[in-house]
Amino acid sequence: MKIKIKRFNKQKSQDFYIEEFDILNTNTLKALLEVKQNYDKSFSFRYGCKSAVCGSCAIRVNGVEKLACKVKLKENDLIEPLNNFEVIKDLVVNLDKNEHFIKKSNAFLEEFSSNVVTKNDGKLIDLQSNCISCQSCFSSCPVSSINSDFIGPTSLTKVFRYIEDKKESLSKNKLDLIQKNGIWDCTLCGNCTMVCPQGIDSRSDILKLRMKSLQNGYTDPTIQTSFNMEFNPNGF
Ligand code: SF4
Ligand code: SF4
Ligand code: FES
Repeated sequence: MKIKIKRFNKQKSQDFYIEEFDILNTNTLKALLEVKQNYDKSFSFRYGCKSAVCGSCAIRVNGVEKLACKVKLKENDLIEPLNNFEVIKDLVVNLDKNEHFIKKSNAFLEEFSSNVVTKNDGKLIDLQSNCISCQSCFSSCPVSSINSDFIGPTSLTKVFRYIEDKKESLSKNKLDLIQKNGIWDCTLCGNCTMVCPQGIDSRSDILKLRMKSLQNGYTDPTIQTSFNMEFNPNGF
C-alpha cells in the first residue's frame, strides 16, 4: 500500500516536501516505524505508550487530527505533522506553546482548599480530567491558526476542569486570565470537539466558561463592540 508523508529536515532542505512510501502495516504508528526501519533511519516522529493513553503520537491524516497508534491507513493517505505548531523535524512539532498557554491561564491547581470533595464532585470533571494533552484540538483550531496569542482549546478545557474542581480555592482568578485572547475569541466552530480522541467537548467547556464569566460580573466584549459600532444616539 502507498502512503504519503509530509517531511521536513533542515539538513536536507529548507522546504517541506512530500515523500511516498510502500508499506505493509495499516496501523499508522506501525507504518511510521516501518518507514524508519526500511527506508530512512533519520525519519522522525513521536510515540510512547502505543495504546492511545500518552497522547504523544498525534499527527494529521488527510488533514484530520488522529492518534497514530489508534488509526488505520488507506491507500494514498497523507500523513502530516500537527497544525499550529512549529515543525522541528518531519512529524515532530515544538510543544512549548502548550506550556506557555497552560501557564498564561493558570490551567492547574493553584491553591488547595479545605473543601470536602465527594465522589460526585469528582465525576463532574471526570471527562476533562481524561485529557491526554495530545494537542489535536489545538491543531484543529482555526482561531489558533490566525491568532498566536489565543489560549486555545487544550488550556481552556483544563481551566474549566480546575475551576470546577472543589480542591481549588482560586477558581475566580482563572476566569480573569481567560477573558483576553481566550473564551470570547473562540468561534464555537466545534473542530476541537470533533477531533478529541478522549471525547472531550472543549467547545461546550468554553461555552460554560462564558456563562460562568457572565455570572461573575465579566462582560462579553463582542456584544460591546457591535453595540458601540451600531448605536448612534443622534439617530443618523
Ligand atoms: S482536549 Fe482532547 S484533543 Fe485536546 S489535548 Fe486533551 S485529549 Fe487531546
Ligand atoms: S470551538 Fe473554539 S476553541 Fe474549538 S476549534 Fe473552534 S474556535 Fe477553536
Ligand atoms: S503512542 Fe501514546 S497515544 Fe499513541
